Amino acid sequence: MARKYYVETFGCQMNHHDSERIAGLLEHDGYEAAADETTADLVVLNTCSVRERAEEKLYSRLGEIRLATAARADEVAIAVTGCVAQQEGDKLLRRAPYINAIAGTQSLKQIPALVRDAVERGRTRIDIDPHEDVSFPLGVARPSDPARAWITIIEGCNEFCSFCVVPYTRGTERMRPVADILAEAREAARTGHVEVQLLGQIVNHYQAPDDAGCDFAELLARVHAISGIQRIRFASPHPRHVTEQLVAAIRDLPKVCKHLHLPVQSGSTRVLQAMRRRYTRETYLDGVARLRDAIPGIEISTDIIVGFPGETDADFEATMDLVRTVNFQSIYSFKYSVRPNTLAMKRMPDDVMEGEKTRRIVALQALQREIQTANHTRMIGTRHDVLVDAGSRRRSWELAGRTFGNTIVNFPGPAEWLGRIVPVRITDAAPNSVRGEALISAPVEAAHAG
Ligand code: SAH
Ligand code: SF4
Ligand code: F3S
Repeated sequence: MARKYYVETFGCQMNHHDSERIAGLLEHDGYEAAADETTADLVVLNTCSVRERAEEKLYSRLGEIRLATAARADEVAIAVTGCVAQQEGDKLLRRAPYINAIAGTQSLKQIPALVRDAVERGRTRIDIDPHEDVSFPLGVARPSDPARAWITIIEGCNEFCSFCVVPYTRGTERMRPVADILAEAREAARTGHVEVQLLGQIVNHYQAPDDAGCDFAELLARVHAISGIQRIRFASPHPRHVTEQLVAAIRDLPKVCKHLHLPVQSGSTRVLQAMRRRYTRETYLDGVARLRDAIPGIEISTDIIVGFPGETDADFEATMDLVRTVNFQSIYSFKYSVRPNTLAMKRMPDDVMEGEKTRRIVALQALQREIQTANHTRMIGTRHDVLVDAGSRRRSWELAGRTFGNTIVNFPGPAEWLGRIVPVRITDAAPNSVRGEALISAPVEAAHAG
């Protein structure tokens, strides 16, 4: 009987895509997918270290997995990869000595061999070395989404924002060849994915190592030319590079979604400086204004940290004011969390009290809820093309998808519509999504036209 694997993912889209790659590598090595840890011979935890809470989740899940597999403890291998693995290395063994393999963020391709070796030799194998190689064999990753294919364009980050652990866990910024990216995009189209999402910590830094004429705007144009792909998204661009070329590419390429995730972090220039973000409140707002002038209706979402060291009431009010001014489509908000190795950890005491961080995040989320409810209410009666990417777990006839912006739409429809673009009229608004009704009755043509 084939050995079975189960991969569990924490963290960002990049990690989710890495898990698709790990799954594919393991299947090439003869494994089959298991539904959960109880039937798996190999459990892989792909971890995130961006906040302390995320890191703690690893240890609680390890404990649960140990318990769930206790009867077969000798037969089940456990591998830990991702950002916590890279950061902690063999230190993970202090709290979880039973881990069989530890693979850093640049060692994904080593995972099958590490696990095999660990099981054969009966001792933990660790590889957290930097592997500069950013290639990945075409067609191996196992897509987890019927509609959307993720494609990594840049690995790592050289930005060193003072709060952020990512440059330490993901390594230096490395660009993938445009030839590889386009081959993956064509493969995505061939396998029926109508949307591609380009991934990198700062996507608009992209410069092809194999083609001096290909920067990020040019990359968008080349992906745009691939038939079959109907939507292109990317995350995240850095606010300091909202260049004319980027704005023009979003405006002029009809397949590029009218949505930009533009993480602001704070509305106070003083805090932005301490964060080493290298833009001001004014330049951020100027970028937003230029985007909105060029692309009416573009939806902008963001990330915000509250309670960064030294953040005063006035700084926080500046963030609230920026949120009111910009009218974000959605916000991911976080309480500041001290991360190992970072400049903030070394130089800036975590001096905003936990209770105050909570007060600020609650106020921010309440404000954003009002904004979203108002935005969603204004959508009632309008028509949108919705790419269906999920069915509801609770109601089999209920579908969910996204507009050509970034708004989540729920509506009744048959499961055959998964992965397709369906015209929908919006009928109801809620804070996090809208409801609608399909404007077609029979399953649409397979969305391969383009
Ligand atoms: N490369 C992206 C961000 C990746 S991390 C960018 O620069 O836009 C995703 C988000 O996690 C960040 O935007 C930030 O809001 C949040 N984050 C990162 N480090 C954090 C920390 N130490 N505490 C709280 N939130 C943090
Ligand atoms: Fe972290 Fe800043 Fe790099 Fe984003 S740009 S990954 S926040 S260091
Ligand atoms: Fe987390 Fe690593 Fe992504 S720290 S957010 S999984 S890059």
